[in-house]
This record gives sequence, structure tokens and C-alpha cells, in this order.
Amino acid sequence: MKKNILRSKIIEIFKKHKLSENHSKICADYLIKAELIEAKSHGLTRLKMYCDRIKKKLINPKPNIKIKRISSSISHINADNSIGFVSADIGISQAIKNAKKTGIGLVGIKNSSHFGLSSFYAEQAVKKNLIVFCFTNAPPALAPHGAKKSLFGTNPICFGVPTGKVPFILDTSTSKINRGKIRHAHKFKKKIPFGVALDKYGKITTNAKNALHGTQLPIAEFKGSGLAWMVDILSGVLTGSSHGGKTKDPFDDFTGPQNVGHLFITIDPKIFIGQKFKMEMKKNIEIVKNLPKAKGFNSIMYPGERKNSLYKKNFNKDITIPKKILQEMDALNDI
Ligand SMILES: NC(=O)c1ccc[n+]([C@@H]2O[C@H](COP(=O)([O-])OP(=O)(O)OC[C@H]3O[C@@H](n4cnc5c(N)ncnc54)[C@H](O)[C@@H]3O)[C@@H](O)[C@H]2O)c1
Repeated sequence: MKKNILRSKIIEIFKKHKLSENHSKICADYLIKAELIEAKSHGLTRLKMYCDRIKKKLINPKPNIKIKRISSSISHINADNSIGFVSADIGISQAIKNAKKTGIGLVGIKNSSHFGLSSFYAEQAVKKNLIVFCFTNAPPALAPHGAKKSLFGTNPICFGVPTGKVPFILDTSTSKINRGKIRHAHKFKKKIPFGVALDKYGKITTNAKNALHGTQLPIAEFKGSGLAWMVDILSGVLTGSSHGGKTKDPFDDFTGPQNVGHLFITIDPKIFIGQKFKMEMKKNIEIVKNLPKAKGFNSIMYPGERKNSLYKKNFNKDITIPKKILQEMDALNDI
């Protein structure tokens, strides 16, 4: 489907679910962005979930989002159960403003919901020549090291830096793969990679449904579990949001709003070494890229390069939408 036609359709669906024109456009653009970078786990496959939660009054389509100024650098946002795309979009703009004024911005967001990919927000700060960290917590998926039961989310860590060329954006779950990839595999009856999840009996599984009922494995064992915990503290405890396994699963748990927390930290890279930062950053990347290549590698890529090239490759192409999702979209448009 042509991108502009798809965009209008998504906007129409969100408007029918009572989002404002502006908020519908924000959501449509992020969902299309996910499709363009081939992050299918965070694109159109989630549209029905967002709409279901709006219908059940667990996402507020007309939120009264309040930004509290703590200092020139620090802001605290109450998202009023907004769809995560909108509150995070407002949050990152505020974090950019704060860093431009003082050199550093810190924005905590509470009462939010799933915001998609952290890189959506990191890219905006990097475009304004800022270094950025983005954190969000997510529903239980990982067992803390030594525990039997899932409690931490796949809690992503995202770090972005302007390079003068393609931005450096490391955006990774603290689990071996993000949960959306498992949900997507389940929806389309595909297997998941070996070694990323256990079933409820603690055995490695490649069956997506069994993985969803079991636990996902963290990156680097106890270190990944520790990083997931760190993100839960930063986005959950610090911002006044759900934490300690209380974040509700947007697909399965309709007992209340998710109360997800996000935290954005923006830094003006000029603060310590002035304009030299850009030059040093260029040198830094060159040193790594010029290393002798390991067997099977023609080049060394930095985080963000692959997604950037996918975006460019797909930008002018039609977006392929599976029949199942087209049917969901028709039903969502038919209310
Ligand atoms: N909103 C939420 O609740 C939530 C929760 C978890 C994850 N997510 C999102 O899911 C995505 C992460 O998914 P994932 O963990 O399956 O990660 P992934 O495997 O898709 O990528 C992880 C990182 O590794 C980098 N990378 C990939 N291949 C590389 C290579 N060959 N060389 C160098 N770097 C490379 C990528 O640029 C990326 O920064 C993120 O965008 C994250 O924000 C969202």
C-alpha cells in the first residue's frame, strides 16, 4: 500500500477511536516509521491492541497531559494515560528544550503506555545535535537472575549520539529479542529463534505461544537482568510509575491502565570539549571501522547504521501489509 494512503487510513482509524487529528497523525507516523525500518514487531501489528485499549478506556484518547517544571533542566510529565507515542513525543521535545537551555535535560513521564521503539525519540534529540538516553519499562517478561517467575520487562536501553553522518543509535532490549518479535511470530504462526526464551517448565522453546507463557532470557545472564532492573528503577520507581512487575501487559491485561514510565536524558555534547566533540566522534568511529575484519565480515557497522539504510531503502516503496492485518484495519475502521 502507498505510504500516504496507509497514513490516511491509520489517522482515520485513530480519529474514529476519538484521538485528536494531531495525536492521530503522531501515532500514524510512528507506526509507519516502524514498518519502514522493518521493525514489524512494533508497526501495524499493534494497531488493534492500541485501539482495543482505547475502547476499553485503558488508554485515554483525550488526555490532559501536564508538564511540571522542576528546574530549567528537569521536567516531570503526567501523561494522564495517554497513548505512549503522544506522551513520549511531548516528553522528548521538552528534554530537547531543556538541554538546549542548560546543557542537560531530564524528563520523567508517568501514567503513560507503550511508546513503540525508543529510537523514534532518540532520533529527534540526535537531529538537534544532542546525546540522548531513552528508557521505558515494560510488562513482565524476564525472570530476575535467580528467580523462577517473570517480573522485569524487556526494558530497552537506548543511547543516541550525533555523528555528523548517520546517527549512532544503540536501541536494545535487555532480553535477547524484544517481546514484540515473539508476539509477531505467534500471530503469524512462526517459530522464534532457539535460545531466547524458556517455556513455563524452564525448557528452551522455539514455540512462540509457549515462550509467551514462559520467560524470555536476558542478554548476558545476570548482567542483562541487572540492566533490566536498572531500567525499571529509572523509568518506573523514579518517575512515579508502575514497577516491580506491576506494569500491565497491553495485549493480555485489561484490568487497568498500564502506567508505564519513560525517562529521557539529553546532553549537549559541547559541554566539555566544545566544537571538538564532532571531530573526536568522527575519529572514534573511523578507528573502529578501520580495524581488521573478523572472518565473515566485510565491514564493521555501528548501531543505527542498518536501520538507517533500511529506512532509506524502503522510503519510496509501498508497504506490504499481511492479509490478517488488513482485515484488522478494516474492522477497526468499521466502528
Ligand atoms: N516500548 C517497549 O516497551 C519496548 C520494549 C522492548 C524493546 N523495545 C524496542 O525493541 C527494539 C529492540 O529490539 P531487539 O532487542 O530485538 O534489538 P535488535 O536486535 O533489533 O537491535 C539491537 C541493537 O543492535 C544494533 N545492531 C543490530 N545489528 C547490528 C550489527 N550487525 N552491528 C552493530 N549493531 C547492530 C541495532 O542497531 C540496535 O541498536 C528497540 O527499538 C526497543 O526500543 C520496546
